[in-house]
Amino acid sequence: MSRITSIEQYHQEYKRSIDHPEEFWAEQAEQFVWKKKWDRVLDWNFIDPKINWYIGGKLNITENCLDRHLPARADQIAYYWEPNDPAEKAVQFTYKQLHEQVCKFANVLKKNGAKKGDRICIYMPMVPELVIALLACARIGAIHSVVFGGFSASALSSRIQDSDCKIVIATDGAYRAAKDIPMKELVDEALEVCPSVSKVIVLERTQTKIKMVAGRDVFWNDEMKKVNSDCAAEPMDAEDMLFILYTSGSTGKPKGVVHTCGGYMVYTHYTFENVFQYRDNEVFWCTADIGWITGHSYCVYAPLLAGATSVIFEGVPTYPDASRFWQVIDKYKVNIFYTAPTAIRALEAAGLNFVNPYQLDSLRVLGSVGEPINEEAWNWYNKNIGKEKCPIVDTWWQTETGGMMISPIAGVTLTKPGFATLPLPGIQPVLVDEKGNEIFGNGVEGNLCIKFPWPSIIRSTYGDHERCKQNYFVTYPGLYFTGDGCRRDENGYYRITGRVDDVMNVSGHRIGTAEVESAINMHADIVESAVVAYPHDIKGQGIYAFVICTKKNKDKDALRKEILAEVTKVIGSIAKPDKIQIVSGLPKTRSGKIMRRILRKVAEGELTNLGDTSTLLDPAVVDEIKAGAL
Ligand code: WT7
Repeated sequence: MSRITSIEQYHQEYKRSIDHPEEFWAEQAEQFVWKKKWDRVLDWNFIDPKINWYIGGKLNITENCLDRHLPARADQIAYYWEPNDPAEKAVQFTYKQLHEQVCKFANVLKKNGAKKGDRICIYMPMVPELVIALLACARIGAIHSVVFGGFSASALSSRIQDSDCKIVIATDGAYRAAKDIPMKELVDEALEVCPSVSKVIVLERTQTKIKMVAGRDVFWNDEMKKVNSDCAAEPMDAEDMLFILYTSGSTGKPKGVVHTCGGYMVYTHYTFENVFQYRDNEVFWCTADIGWITGHSYCVYAPLLAGATSVIFEGVPTYPDASRFWQVIDKYKVNIFYTAPTAIRALEAAGLNFVNPYQLDSLRVLGSVGEPINEEAWNWYNKNIGKEKCPIVDTWWQTETGGMMISPIAGVTLTKPGFATLPLPGIQPVLVDEKGNEIFGNGVEGNLCIKFPWPSIIRSTYGDHERCKQNYFVTYPGLYFTGDGCRRDENGYYRITGRVDDVMNVSGHRIGTAEVESAINMHADIVESAVVAYPHDIKGQGIYAFVICTKKNKDKDALRKEILAEVTKVIGSIAKPDKIQIVSGLPKTRSGKIMRRILRKVAEGELTNLGDTSTLLDPAVVDEIKAGAL
């Protein structure tokens, strides 16, 4: 694989990747173990869409993550695991130990009826067994669908139903800061409406008292005692599904983004090696939860493909106090640290007293991901954490892109606060206006699209290919539409300005306005609601809900509490509105469409200049909303 080490080389490689994409991506794939080499590199169109990479190739990603490294790295640490409570014993896994555990658990899955192509849901906190579970699925060709541990029973069941999962892997409970979350109880509740699930494999983490359903539920540890560690890796077609990961869109329920084996492997590895410039023996730490794409790609697959040593962390940045990240960096001598702007802002707000006691001198590269990073947070990170010696890579990408798309290359690309800078090799971004016309040149702004496939682009939305087409490929025919707005500055640097659709980004979590509205509307006294995002100092965006209540005399505080409980029940606490305004009507056009633009202005605190309101059915509604703005 070619590692880019200078800006001149970046420009050369970029040009080569555009002029000869197949040759370029064949080269990046060659270092891996293929059970059978591909016949053709790429076949695609963005109309159906149909995207196939490494056609005819056979592989198993776990052989490339694990077996391939054993001759040289058997005793190298693959993972340092840092528990939620710093007083609990930390655990580490070498490549050999990880390989053994994965093979054993793969045998457990087989013994419990799992076969190639089956969907398996994983609902666990950040314990090492979560990584083992993912890789064990991949080992036998089962498709993992990880559901973030913070989602509710109801959110869990709808994801299990959507992809007809056969097995659920969960823990008894989860430690999160000072809380003890009853995961298995939530699984039991979810499974009341999930007939496809025949087995639940339970890892004991908190020793919480749980109910085991006879014939359905088994314990991880008991099952591991019954199997050996020989498990041949299932040969997978390059385009066989590797995993499904649910993500929110502007309408409807979350959709299952599908990624496949070959292209995802090549692209996540390529971006990891280049963007972070990972060097042998370095320690890498991505703080994302494996319930999100960042965790899939950069806690699990890419670092293992690169033979790296990583930290995985069960806890949160502010527990026991706001020095936890810095303490863990010193403890493991972390060289590359990858986190989200929302965490940076929260730790900045906690003050430098939490930072100053730590050396942080092992750090070489800092990363940011998940939402736009404001200049102030960027500067704070650069000065106080990187000590102005560590390049910051602000990496823009999405669940659908599988890997980083627009990002500086550490030490190679000149960085600029707030800018994701330049597209990585193989990525062809275009900015378009509302009509879909490409906006050429620099110093321009538009909607961000990509005009050529890269190896880890979304292949489909599970069970509904038409939805994939409608969501990403119809708005601007011939282009993949990201949903983001973007500016290209005078030097051709890209700055992501945020979503242009009804998707919110709250503390780096992607949440659809429609999802939250539908959860609020489940409340018996609510007739209608409208949800918008507004700028929030720490979370990036906060959630503002306007609700219409049928009961005129209802106590407002009680109603707010009930709404929060409803949203927590239907989605999870990450989707709880920060502000709830009770209104008697919503601003609608004569055709009945809610004018969100007006609500957004109100939520932003902009009450004087609401723009054109001439198409409103009832202008008095706006006056009332303005008067009651929170
Ligand atoms: C949305 C995708 C990428 C993995 C984590 C989020 C926003 C992501 C950046 C960035 C500005 C960013 C975009 C994107 N986003 N990274 N560096 N700068 N915005 O994945 O949950 O699929 O969310 O996150 O709006 O569309 P996701």
